[in-house]
Amino acid sequence: MPLLHLAIALLSAISPVAAAQVSIFQVSSVVSSAASSFAPAVIYASPTGSASSALATAAPSPYWLESITHQGISAFNSDPASYQVFRNVKSFGAKGDGSTDDTAAIQAAMSAGGRCVPGSCQSSTTTPAIVYFPAGTYIISSSIIDYYYTQIIGNPNNMPVLKATPNFSGFGVIDGDQYGANGLKFGATNVFFRQIRNLVFDLTAIPSSSSATGLHWPTAQATSLQNCVFKMSDAPGTQHQGLFIEGGSGGFMNDLVFYGGLNGVVFGNQQFTVRNLTFYNAVTAIDQIWDWGWTYTGISINNCTTGLNMAGGGTTGQSTGSVTFLDSSFTNTKVAIATAHNASSFPATAGSLILDNIVLTNTPVVVQGPQGTVLKGGSLTISGWGEGHEYTANYQKKNFQSSITKFSRPSSLTKNGQYYARSKPQYQASPLSQFVSVRTAGAKGDGLTDDTAAINSVLKSAAAASKIVFFDAGTYKVTSTITIPPGSKVVGESFSVIMGAGSFFSSITSPQPVVAVGAAGQSGVVEWSDMIVSTQGATAGAILIQWNLASTSSSPSGMWDVHTRIGGFAGSNLQLAQCPTTPSSAAVNQNCVAAFMSMYIAPSATGLYMENNWLWTADHDMEDPSVTQITVYTGRGLYCASTSGTIWMVGTAVEHHALYQYQFVKTKNIYAGQIQTETAYWQPNPNASVVFPIASGWNDPNFATSCAGVAGQCNMGWGLRVVNSSSILVYGAGLYSFFNNYSVACSNSVVSPGNGGACQTRIFSVEGTATNVDVYNLNTVGATQMVTRDGKQVALFSDNANVYPDTIAYYKSS
Ligand SMILES: *[C@@H]1O[C@H](CO)[C@@H](O)[C@H](O)[C@H]1NC(C)=O
Ligand SMILES: *[C@@H]1O[C@H](CO)[C@@H](O)[C@H](O)[C@H]1NC(C)=O
Ligand SMILES: *[C@@H]1O[C@H](CO)[C@@H](O)[C@H](O)[C@H]1NC(C)=O
Ligand SMILES: *[C@@H]1O[C@H](CO)[C@@H](O)[C@H](O)[C@H]1NC(C)=O
Ligand SMILES: *[C@@H]1O[C@H](CO)[C@@H](O)[C@H](O)[C@H]1NC(C)=O
Ligand SMILES: *[C@@H]1O[C@H](CO)[C@@H](O)[C@H](O)[C@H]1NC(C)=O
Ligand SMILES: *[C@@H]1O[C@H](CO)[C@@H](O)[C@H](O)[C@H]1NC(C)=O
Repeated sequence: MPLLHLAIALLSAISPVAAAQVSIFQVSSVVSSAASSFAPAVIYASPTGSASSALATAAPSPYWLESITHQGISAFNSDPASYQVFRNVKSFGAKGDGSTDDTAAIQAAMSAGGRCVPGSCQSSTTTPAIVYFPAGTYIISSSIIDYYYTQIIGNPNNMPVLKATPNFSGFGVIDGDQYGANGLKFGATNVFFRQIRNLVFDLTAIPSSSSATGLHWPTAQATSLQNCVFKMSDAPGTQHQGLFIEGGSGGFMNDLVFYGGLNGVVFGNQQFTVRNLTFYNAVTAIDQIWDWGWTYTGISINNCTTGLNMAGGGTTGQSTGSVTFLDSSFTNTKVAIATAHNASSFPATAGSLILDNIVLTNTPVVVQGPQGTVLKGGSLTISGWGEGHEYTANYQKKNFQSSITKFSRPSSLTKNGQYYARSKPQYQASPLSQFVSVRTAGAKGDGLTDDTAAINSVLKSAAAASKIVFFDAGTYKVTSTITIPPGSKVVGESFSVIMGAGSFFSSITSPQPVVAVGAAGQSGVVEWSDMIVSTQGATAGAILIQWNLASTSSSPSGMWDVHTRIGGFAGSNLQLAQCPTTPSSAAVNQNCVAAFMSMYIAPSATGLYMENNWLWTADHDMEDPSVTQITVYTGRGLYCASTSGTIWMVGTAVEHHALYQYQFVKTKNIYAGQIQTETAYWQPNPNASVVFPIASGWNDPNFATSCAGVAGQCNMGWGLRVVNSSSILVYGAGLYSFFNNYSVACSNSVVSPGNGGACQTRIFSVEGTATNVDVYNLNTVGATQMVTRDGKQVALFSDNANVYPDTIAYYKSS
């Protein structure tokens, strides 16, 4: 997401109320941070006595990540020999005893080693850190300031508590993006590669009448929150809030529990996938201050006044674009959803809403609109309901507010009537003896040594011995394919990188996988998490990830927080120095042709659960102080050719590949939500066909044929292309085309009203046979046609204007 667009998104989409809120928070945050003083020696009485003391003195609960030998490195750091990736806060003086103020010690663990400090650094991949919390209760008196590329991880076997003092100061017990004089210190749409997991945020010692925030988390792609608890006051008039997000281009979070609060969460961000959140006793569980498209699944809201408030901005200036809500429940809650949408509200498609499989218990109002109750509740199940624009059978645009026929779910994708889901394994029950380190096994991870043989050897022996493979932090250069055998469990540390380099990956006509999971014909299960696959230099024939393995629908394989990252980072040789943008030239720098495809799901693959994966060709150099744009060419994004399908894509995004971002050909039974794409910024200079000629056998789109006679910028990469497939079920999509030749004039409907929708003619193509190829809340930016069926326009952008994108709430291909 370009920096420029943060400002545009906020201007266009945030309500005056929310904008005011943000500036108030900005001011108070500045004031309070100026007033705060770190006083590590001060001893506080344990605010709630027994509970926290009991935790503080609990018996040690071993966790492998705490005990394993810490030999992770940052290969491209200026001093890799001394830079420390893993930091146990207790080694920096934190006590976790429920009485000592640990704020300064924790901040010392965060900041040691010349890291990317908010305010003086925009982004960097060379100073990654894990800030680890053993079990204990840590007293926090002012915000812990989060730095770039940080994983904050607690012991999942005995979750550490971050307990705010009664006079806590700051915006968030953890402030994930601090405010400075010029707004957020990290551009919210460029905050990548970070996590927080296994922590309890406890605000209950703060008077309920004082505003207090658990976590301030403006964020972008490849970030996650997992398994955290937020404890707030539920006294009348409480001013507490658990999680506050006012901007960014996210993102994913799961397995969070919120107790009390004026707002359990406040959410404003372009798009997000939110899974398995539980709220108790909040005034408002979710305050959606603005968005383009959010997907909520597995949400449980209990004993709240309002479940989801998406009414911000009112009927004349709604700030929430669209919401997809499925497999969720509301219990003892007065109003499940409050909206400002009605038949004459503005923008016309703002407040697009889809409910799919929602269980209500003693919840009298499901949807409350500006004129009162729109949909009555009680104790019942809503199969399908929605409001917004629909394009179904004969593709006539219809404005609807009614029950809908919910998408037909293939039984192989569901469990007990809900979509199957599985959180990222943290192996908390596995003893240390179960793990093998790739560095101990001889791989170097220094970005220089060829680690191919060492890695293939340890993967093979570990799978045979049922061991879990730990990739110590580092960049593992490989010169031919790494194969992950069936039975493997592979886990990284602060996104360990496998980087394909050299001639094996250089042929654009004979592409080779950097990482292959199984081989065609093999079955079994693979679990893979917290890693990145990359390339170095001109590797036009690299397929970064190729999934061949067949798993069953009841015991699928999984890929969690595994990303591709092509260019834009230290060591890639695809940075500003090598690959500057060249808008005034039609020449293609062959040294910047960096990959054939990000991810290939082969015909033999089936039974794959993907969660929080970002397949990214860099649009800017993350090490550059001005995060300057670059031009790196890659052919194809995610191509799914699985004949049996049965694939879940929970919170995935694919950006800046030439021919398409997502392509589904002759496949079936796919759950996808939310999906997000961006078209390559350099197109149409040159157009999509020039750098990557059609490769036979890969079912590439043929723009020369399909664009004949089509007006506008037709020869541009597809955001989503579906050919001869069935049951491709998309629960929220954001397909964005912001640029032509690095200029946003074609998409910027705010600056030039009526001039949006001109970056590319078409962005979403459904071709050939299409049974149950359905999308809830299709959001597009910069495309004239929102949907194209066999080359013909189905929906025109200007008929479906929303807060910034254009939105169809309910699209069915047949
Ligand atoms: C918070 O209260 C403690 C104990 O009364 C005091 O020592 C400390 O200075 C206060 N901190 C702030 C930031 O006001
Ligand atoms: C939901 O989160 C809770 C913890 O907050 C966890 O115990 C549970 O297994 C999760 N459920 C799913 C389906 O992920
Ligand atoms: C419901 O929430 C209120 C606070 O809003 C709290 O006082 C009450 O105890 C809760 N009821 C139950 C049954 O938890
Ligand atoms: C929508 O709500 C607004 C604000 O209450 C109201 O003025 C308008 O008449 C409503 N439109 C319809 C069609 O009900
Ligand atoms: C691309 O933009 C540059 C200005 O940045 C302009 O000079 C050039 O002519 C444009 N090229 C094309 C093909 O539109
Ligand atoms: C794509 O660009 C090439 C080179 O400029 C040109 O020959 C071709 O006609 C263009 N194709 C389309 C469909 O615009
Ligand atoms: C899709 O099916 C049509 C009709 O059977 C066929 O002509 C076309 O070649 C198929 N496309 C692909 C990419 O398989």
